[in-house]
Amino acid sequence: MDRIAITGGAQLNGTIPVSGAKNSAIKLMAASLLTDEPLRLTNMPRLADTRFLGKLLTRLGVSVTESDDGPDGQQTILHAPEITSGFAPYDLVRQMRASFNVLGPLVARSGQAKVSLPGGCTIGARPVDLHLQALEALGAKIDLHEGYVYAQAPRGLKGAEIVFPIVSVGATEHAMLAAVLADGVTVIRNAACEPELVDLQECLNAMGAKVEGAGTPNVTITGVARLHGATHSVIPDRIEMGTYAVAAAMAGGEVRLTKARPELIESLSVKLEEAGATVVRTEDGVIVKRNGSRLNAVDLETAPFPGFATDLQAQFMALMTTANGESRIRETIFENRFMHAPELMRLGADISVHGGEARVRGVEQLEGAEVMATDLRASVSLVIAGLVARGETVVSRIYHLDRGFERLEEKLGACGAQVRRIKGDGEPEL
Ligand code: EPZ
Repeated sequence: MDRIAITGGAQLNGTIPVSGAKNSAIKLMAASLLTDEPLRLTNMPRLADTRFLGKLLTRLGVSVTESDDGPDGQQTILHAPEITSGFAPYDLVRQMRASFNVLGPLVARSGQAKVSLPGGCTIGARPVDLHLQALEALGAKIDLHEGYVYAQAPRGLKGAEIVFPIVSVGATEHAMLAAVLADGVTVIRNAACEPELVDLQECLNAMGAKVEGAGTPNVTITGVARLHGATHSVIPDRIEMGTYAVAAAMAGGEVRLTKARPELIESLSVKLEEAGATVVRTEDGVIVKRNGSRLNAVDLETAPFPGFATDLQAQFMALMTTANGESRIRETIFENRFMHAPELMRLGADISVHGGEARVRGVEQLEGAEVMATDLRASVSLVIAGLVARGETVVSRIYHLDRGFERLEEKLGACGAQVRRIKGDGEPEL
């Protein structure tokens, strides 16, 4: 298996273009199941997760065509003239939980589906009860057998009021994807407000759907009989953007993040400023600067958007490991999302975890070591720590990293970081 080696100590100076958002792209790809015409997605990231989903969609009858050198850059055309199978097997769904989101579009388009339950996850239990609750509210008959969800709506889905007891990004997206072809009006209450929901609304509306209110807690969907093809540009990846913003604050120097939008990471920018970094909001991103002085410890609590993203918590914890003072970090979205803490401690960080709160007491200097990635965002937090650790840090199990960060070594390397990939046989990649 590949590993990443980082030699600490180099400042970051340069420009990093932000890619399209993984967490939006994979829901937009699922939307292709809703129409017999082609859906063209531009600003597409090329990631392991988009490849996984492409593989599953192909099994369901979608042709997936990627091209990277057209006038619109990286694009994917997804075309499902007909659904040839409504079956999403365990071996594909377990590799990526978001594959579960094909269930709603399959039922909406062809009246039935058999989709594997996704199973466990290293960051928390992550049940799908709210997804199923939404589909049942829309009139689907749901049965669970032997690890599979059997969903049926032979006469189509019906518009309904869906009231979520807690905010869920995935369940809100799933409900939207299912309700666009339902008969009548659907109102989703206590909907997630993440920017990826707005992106999904824009894509669905470009396909002829009638969705309003995404980005607020109340989303209204007036069902239509059919959707058509469309072209849609994937929203910039706010988590990738935030990750490089934290990397710049960690390593020092000046990094300009482009092809993005500053408001997507405002809650992070405020925390970076509180810690002593400079953040300049620009038209298409941010510039993050830190001169030689040490950052101050700041506290944070994760929250649904526009609060501090749980997907940036591990990176911020890495930043706090060398800050001046003690930082309290509370994780409120997932119950087990501190798996990076013991790995950061292998680099010399001083962290104690009590339930949903971690206390990070900043140390003067981290020391390079071998560490192991446990999930996507945890693995990049180890890379960030490695940027300032003395000597070499080697991160293993980086297949997690490849799920969500496009050309990470190239992007950091272009700013002066000493980062290289070591291929599975132990030899550095040529
Ligand atoms: C999305 O996961 C993202 N994944 C996550 O990013 C992100 O951390 C999360 O939203 C929160 O922002 C994708 O978009 C693919 P949720 P999702 O449903 O939709 C509970 C990354 O690193 N819940 O908003 O699965 C759940 O257990 C990933 O890119 C239920 O109880 O998150 C959690 O505690 C990691 N029942 C809370 O809701 C349900 O049916 C919020 O989860 C669904 C969720």
